Amino acid sequence: TDLKKVENGVSSAISVEEYRDLAGLNTRENSTVSITVVGASGDLAKKKIFPALFALYYEDCLPEHFTIFGYARSKMTDAELRSMVSRTLTCRIDKRENCSEKMEQFLGRCFYHSGQYDSEENFAELDKKLKEHESGRLSNRLFYLSIPPNIFMDAVKCASKSASSSNGWTRVIVEKPFGQDSESSAALTQGLKQYLVEDQIFRIDHYLGKELVENLSVLRFSNLVFEPLWSRQYIRNVQLIFSEDFGTEGRGGYFDNYGIIRDIMQNHLLQILALFAMETPVSLDAEDIRNEKVKVLRSMKPLQLEDIVIGQYKSHTKGGITYPAYTDDMTVPRDSRTPTFAAAALFVDNARWDGVPFLMKAGKALHTRRTEIRVQFRHVPGNLYRSFGTDLDRATNELVIRVQPDEAIYLKINNKIPGLGMRLDRSHLNLLYATRYSKEIPDAYERLLLDAIEGERRLFIRSDELEAAWALFTPLLKELEEKSISPELYPYGSRGPVGAHYLAAKYKVQWG
Ligand code: NDP
Ligand code: BG6
Repeated sequence: TDLKKVENGVSSAISVEEYRDLAGLNTRENSTVSITVVGASGDLAKKKIFPALFALYYEDCLPEHFTIFGYARSKMTDAELRSMVSRTLTCRIDKRENCSEKMEQFLGRCFYHSGQYDSEENFAELDKKLKEHESGRLSNRLFYLSIPPNIFMDAVKCASKSASSSNGWTRVIVEKPFGQDSESSAALTQGLKQYLVEDQIFRIDHYLGKELVENLSVLRFSNLVFEPLWSRQYIRNVQLIFSEDFGTEGRGGYFDNYGIIRDIMQNHLLQILALFAMETPVSLDAEDIRNEKVKVLRSMKPLQLEDIVIGQYKSHTKGGITYPAYTDDMTVPRDSRTPTFAAAALFVDNARWDGVPFLMKAGKALHTRRTEIRVQFRHVPGNLYRSFGTDLDRATNELVIRVQPDEAIYLKINNKIPGLGMRLDRSHLNLLYATRYSKEIPDAYERLLLDAIEGERRLFIRSDELEAAWALFTPLLKELEEKSISPELYPYGSRGPVGAHYLAAKYKVQWG
């Protein structure tokens, strides 16, 4: 607690971690990282976390000395954990050399400890095992809370009391949902702060780890051609679209308590919006970027009921196959009004974006799977070529950033059709990632796990960001629930409720 540094004659307190960095003690040789996946028996751990850790290992991105522990209540031996994990590991990386050898080496670094989430004693047993593996080296510890939110606090309390590092850093990755509204989110933040300081908390929004979301700032701030156009002067509207072609299969129990607005809009799409709309940060430092994102969120008006449309998928038969309704899920109440689709219009009330609708659309069980950012530009004033193309007056430029699948960035332009006449049509300037880059795109969890290990906070959500995000959605969510508003039903596999088109039309927008 008494560590201090003196810079330009000014003395300030520093953490043990910072001291060790400054003193050059955090070297590869004498430090180790222990990663504990809390909730290791669960879906996310199997599907995303262990495979991402393996990919990092395969790419030589993990530190020389590292150990992975699974922790959960299920009884498992180390061998059983390894067998469970091995079923989900793939050699998706381009080299594919020595893959099975690498897998064996990786699995050899994975261990398991069974314990309760609210038992300090069980976490103390884990601590003992971690110490054995750390072999007296400086211990850095990362806990990934891959458990349902109602047990976050128990696990944080016990991990921090009984298993935090005594000489290195201790960091905790927290999975969404971070509460259900402003109050519960604030309570969670306060709860976490009893045991951790803000710098130890890594709130994950895996959309921030997606390649094209991370590229947004590069596109804007390192190309002269985009940033000057990035305002109300040239942009008519911005669309943020998330669509999945499958229902809540298997996650209905979780989903029914949250709904699509909390599941996708309040976090994934709002984070993209903030990155899209923010001013140029002072630097690429995490705090500078997060400061700008918070400013955007604080400049926005809370959502109004008249600016939202909600829907829920119903059963649909196509080609002899019957697709289930949301309420056919055994874990969902038959009379559930939880939205599986929502469309919303949001506004950023600042000088740059005044009056520009940011339209969000998110839905499950739609006709396609895609996540896109679509930027529709204004008309060309006094367009000389108005009479040379079909509907050219409406064919304004559009920039599309396709986050997934088939990552791409393309710009729709009006172009002369080659030939002696003068006819115009719409063409695409197209950057298709699969064609341009041979390397496979890493999964979002790989990037985020690596950042957490390296202490890079840029892609994680700060508590004030979270507070501002909930402030935008909480009044609306309460109103929807208090008034018990029924969602518009749409068939499984369709384009969603027609209400979404009326909402867009209100702002003279057509969904892309
Ligand atoms: P699971 O429901 O699979 O839970 C993970 C583990 O937690 C289970 O294996 C179980 O382990 C333990 N657990 C489950 N329910 C309880 C309970 N009521 N009380 C105590 N322990 C319980 O969750 P997921 O793996 O799907 O998700 C983990 C976290 O990640 C959640 O916060 C979720 O919202 C979030 N998330 C998940 C995504 C996904 O795709 N799955 C996507 C984005 C976020 P055991 O019984 O062995 O202790
Ligand atoms: C999660 C949501 O955060 O993101 C899920 O809880 C959703 O409902 C998932 O399916 C989508 O993630 P991705 O990376 O598959 O687009």
